[in-house]
Amino acid sequence: MPERVSIQNIRTGSYRHIDVRPLAGALGAEIRGVDLSKPLADEVFAEIRQAFLDNLVVFIADQDITPQHQCDFARRFGPLTRHPFLKTMEQYPEVLLLKREKDEDVQVIGRRWHSDSSFDERPPMGSSLYSKDVPPYGGDTLFCNLYLAYDMLSAGMKRLAESLTVVHSAVHYATAKAGGAGLTVLPDAAKEAVKERVHPLVRIHPETGRKALWITGLDYGRRFEDMTPEESAPLMKFFQELATQELLSCRYRWSRGTLALWDNRCTQHLALDDYLGFRREMYRVEIEGDEPFGPARPKNAALLRAA
Ligand code: SIN
Repeated sequence: MPERVSIQNIRTGSYRHIDVRPLAGALGAEIRGVDLSKPLADEVFAEIRQAFLDNLVVFIADQDITPQHQCDFARRFGPLTRHPFLKTMEQYPEVLLLKREKDEDVQVIGRRWHSDSSFDERPPMGSSLYSKDVPPYGGDTLFCNLYLAYDMLSAGMKRLAESLTVVHSAVHYATAKAGGAGLTVLPDAAKEAVKERVHPLVRIHPETGRKALWITGLDYGRRFEDMTPEESAPLMKFFQELATQELLSCRYRWSRGTLALWDNRCTQHLALDDYLGFRREMYRVEIEGDEPFGPARPKNAALLRAA
C-alpha cells in the first residue's frame, strides 16, 4: 500500500439554503433543512447537487416520503433507469424493494464492495436508497472515495492505471434465481448478463472533471482487457484493496426515514449483513448515467466505434 497517511476530500461548496455536515474526511455528508415531501425550489436543489458532487454521498434524515417522492427527487438529477436484471415494484417500476424479514435467512444484496451496475454500457450515475424500516443496530452501509484512491497512486502507477481498460460483466446474474433479500432475477437476465462491457480503469468524472480509480468491485470488473483473469487478478486486487481501505471510507448508521444518494462514478459501497433477527426495508432508485470515459477511452467512444 502506498505510504500516504493523511487524506482529505476537498469540498468547495458553500451553502445558503441547506446545512451540510461532513461525516468523514474521505467522503459523506448529512444535509439538513430539506423536506423531500414538498417540491424543492431550484436554488435549494442546486445546493443539494453541489453537496452531492462535493461529498460523493449525502444523507437526508427525518423524511416521511413515498416511493413517488423518492423518484421525483431522483429525477431532478436525471432520468431514472431500471435495474437490468432484478424485478422492481409493481406500482413503482423504477423502484427496487430491498427487504429482509427478521426470520429470513437470505443474503443481503450488495454485501461485497461494488459500484452499481458497472457492467452496463452506461452505468447509473447515482443511486438513491431510502430507509423505510431499519434494525435497532447493524445494517450500516459503507462507502469509499475513488478519487482519493487515484490520488494515492504513485506517478508510475497512475501512468499504468491510465492505460488500462477493464472487462465488466454481470455473469453471476446469469445463473442466479434470487438476487438476494427476496429479489427475483428477471427471466431473460441470463442472455444479457453474460455480455461483457469494457470501461476505462481511470474515469474522468463528467461533472467535476476529476480522475477516479474506477475499480468497481471484483464481482463486476472481471479482468483487464487483453489479459487473462489470472494475469489481471493481482493488480485488480491491489486496486480494490487500495480503494476500499478504511482511510478512504465512511460508514453510515441508518435511522428510519433517511434518504441517501451516492455517486457511482467515483464511489463504491457495501451493505453490512450483520442484522439477522431484525427487519430491514429499503427502497432503491437508480439515475441514468453516461458512458464512462478516461485516458484509456476517449469521450464518446461509442460514437467513434459506430462511425
Ligand atoms: C446496495 O445498493 O448495494 C444496497 C445497500 C444497502 O442496502 O445498504
